[in-house]
Amino acid sequence: MKEIHQRRLVMVPAPFEGHIPSMMNLASYLSSQGFSISIVQTQFNFKDLSPNFPDLNFFTINDGLSESDLKSLGLLEFILRLNSVCEPLLKEFLTIHDDVDFIIYDEFVYFPRRVAEDLNLPKMVFSASSAATSISRCVLMDNQAKGLLPPQEARSQLEEMVPEFHPFRFKDLPVTAYGSMERLMILYENVSNRSPSSGIIHNSSNCLESSFISSAQEKWRVPVYPVGPLHMFNSAGSCPSLYDEEKNCLEWLEKQETNSAIYISMGSLAMTQEIEALEMAMGLVQSNQPFLWVIRPGSIIGQESLDFLPEQFRQTVAEGRGFVVKWAPQKEVLRHRAVGGFWNHCGWNSCLESISSGVPMICMPYSGDQRVNARLMSHVWRTAIEIEGELERGIVEKAVMRLIVDHEGVEMRTRAIGLKEEVEASVRIGGSSYSSLNSLIHRIMSLTS
Ligand code: UDX
Repeated sequence: MKEIHQRRLVMVPAPFEGHIPSMMNLASYLSSQGFSISIVQTQFNFKDLSPNFPDLNFFTINDGLSESDLKSLGLLEFILRLNSVCEPLLKEFLTIHDDVDFIIYDEFVYFPRRVAEDLNLPKMVFSASSAATSISRCVLMDNQAKGLLPPQEARSQLEEMVPEFHPFRFKDLPVTAYGSMERLMILYENVSNRSPSSGIIHNSSNCLESSFISSAQEKWRVPVYPVGPLHMFNSAGSCPSLYDEEKNCLEWLEKQETNSAIYISMGSLAMTQEIEALEMAMGLVQSNQPFLWVIRPGSIIGQESLDFLPEQFRQTVAEGRGFVVKWAPQKEVLRHRAVGGFWNHCGWNSCLESISSGVPMICMPYSGDQRVNARLMSHVWRTAIEIEGELERGIVEKAVMRLIVDHEGVEMRTRAIGLKEEVEASVRIGGSSYSSLNSLIHRIMSLTS
């Protein structure tokens, strides 16, 4: 029988900002429990994580893909290409490093699945998203295969509820803005192919979505481990951010009243139309509330600088009611007492960070799982307002007022704080996510003896 430190796990993160930190938090935790962990990164989007995680081993596979490939292919096609290019490279790597006992891979880089099968290695899939998202992909594929999916132009049909998938409408299913439906189905078939694995790990918690976690367990007939929110487990290191965090926004927050400020950020991928940014700016001016707005470089289509924003907006910022940064220390911002609400695109990490800070949200989903997450936030946990349709300044102003000032927002904040407490309890010793992590460790031990 091998000692725990002799069990060598290879972990393969998807090379995207919304995916790497959660897997690294898991890797760090497993390493703290004694496993020997090797992280296999792609050369594409390579980031040197070794200084932040000195106890882990790092390897790179040379996929030869670049940012310009991503731009020319589009995200969806790029992911399909990345997977086909990396499969033989990982096989070569594992043939050389033949002491590997177990593989954990992100669901979007599914290339280790076939390699592990060929080499007879046990494996598990890691989902950085909600269990509801995993199920929603299958619902989408099923409806598409049966020809039941309304076309994207059929607005009224898209408003209808998906049969037996409460509380989601057809428009909430995770279609993509980054490629065709046909190619998306190919991607989702691969992402959802999990049955031969030894388990599914979700960065989620039983206290958030126990029914979807049970559905996942029934569907794939393997153990499901909801071990999140992973950022709440004390890990040895934390991932370096995509951009430099502008910490001076925390000083600005210090000057604001408790629960008064709205924090706006759309994650690492979403792109905003110029007109939307303009309406957002004017809505924030009209709301009369303090605002902290992350405008990621290049995230407004066709605009390199912020000069196009109106004079009134700039004046509001100059007077100190608003603060604009390129990238914020988001987790710290959300924990700040001055932040009363979070305007977000509903990336799963942002949702978890908002929940774990007890901050209610305004959801404006763009693509993929974000619609599913928005529905969870607004209709299951009821800690968010959902914004739909064209963004206008009046809508922005009203949404901010509803969340920060009105009684409705106060009620959402109370529910958000209740949810935060449940999530905190789940990561404590004896809590559901903590216990799930322990079960995961036992499962890996039993499969690698
Ligand atoms: C992507 C997908 O778009 C999303 O739908 C999926 O759920 C995860 O992968 P992304 O769009 O980047 O993620 O959003 P999100 O999941 O919210 O992750 C963004 C991360 O960047 C968060 O951890 C957030 O804390 C961090 N961030 C964002 C900052 O640290 N500073 C910022 O200013 C903005």
